[in-house]
Amino acid sequence: MFYLSETLTEISVVAGPGSFDLAKNIAKRLGAQLTVASLRIFSDGESNIKLGKVGKNCVIVQSTHPPTDTHLIQLLMMAKKCTDDGAQHVCAVIPYLGYARQDRAFLEGEVVSIGLVAKLFETAGLKHIITVDIHSQLAMSYFESIQNISSVPLLADYASKIKLRDPIAVSPDAGGTNRAKEFARHLNIDVIVLKKSRHRVTGEVTVDEKLHMDISKRDAIVIDDIISSGGSIIKAADVLQKKGVQKIYAMCTHALLIRDAAQKIKSAGVQDIISTNSVPGEYSKVEISPEIASALRSRY
Ligand code: R5P
Repeated sequence: MFYLSETLTEISVVAGPGSFDLAKNIAKRLGAQLTVASLRIFSDGESNIKLGKVGKNCVIVQSTHPPTDTHLIQLLMMAKKCTDDGAQHVCAVIPYLGYARQDRAFLEGEVVSIGLVAKLFETAGLKHIITVDIHSQLAMSYFESIQNISSVPLLADYASKIKLRDPIAVSPDAGGTNRAKEFARHLNIDVIVLKKSRHRVTGEVTVDEKLHMDISKRDAIVIDDIISSGGSIIKAADVLQKKGVQKIYAMCTHALLIRDAAQKIKSAGVQDIISTNSVPGEYSKVEISPEIASALRSRY
């Protein structure tokens, strides 16, 4: 357990290989010691992690974006090392928490992977998790102690500086309704929710073209938690264009943008992609370290 009387200098922020810049920014904001994990990848793909001396309270920063399994095992290694070195409290900041979409068995025989991930974290000695825009409430329920930070106010703030014509916020699916509504509320704009379905076996995405509002000649911001293959955004853009929407922007918390996803999204007529820096990359323009540092400050 942490006590408020402890000073922030007693915290070691451990920069994992997946989140070096973010960890640096968080440590700077907290005025905490930064310990950088040194990484060697063996020819068979195994990770070898070395950590310097850590304090009695450790905050490991590591997103688990692709290569997801590699980043995940590196996180477990760092947690185990901090615990073995006598840290009394080890917490992890995992802005992008991989496997959160596998929060139930959608098809018979499937493993509820996020449940296993939660157990692995406990076994490695992680006492508390801080994440950003986790995919679902159900995913959160597998963790003993987890805090979910919303990046929506930061994304909305960024969006408010883009020159747009009578903008509308768009959720690409029903699951993103609350996020899109919160985003629209911050910007005081309209919101629509598209009806998306994904084939459980092939992954193919389809979007219903019936909308309850005339959106022609308006600009749109499609807001989602994750952009992975880009399929959801591309289908949404296609429907919006058919309805006469002018400019389309894609905003998200976690830009995984697998392979040429960004190129495909732009070729589909999307002006720009904007995400937080939960996952490092070219489109990660919205800095989330202030929100994470403030969550850590109120905890310590
Ligand atoms: C799904 O429910 C999520 O909220 C995202 O819409 C989805 O993960 C995006 O994936 P993709 O870019 O592959 O369509």
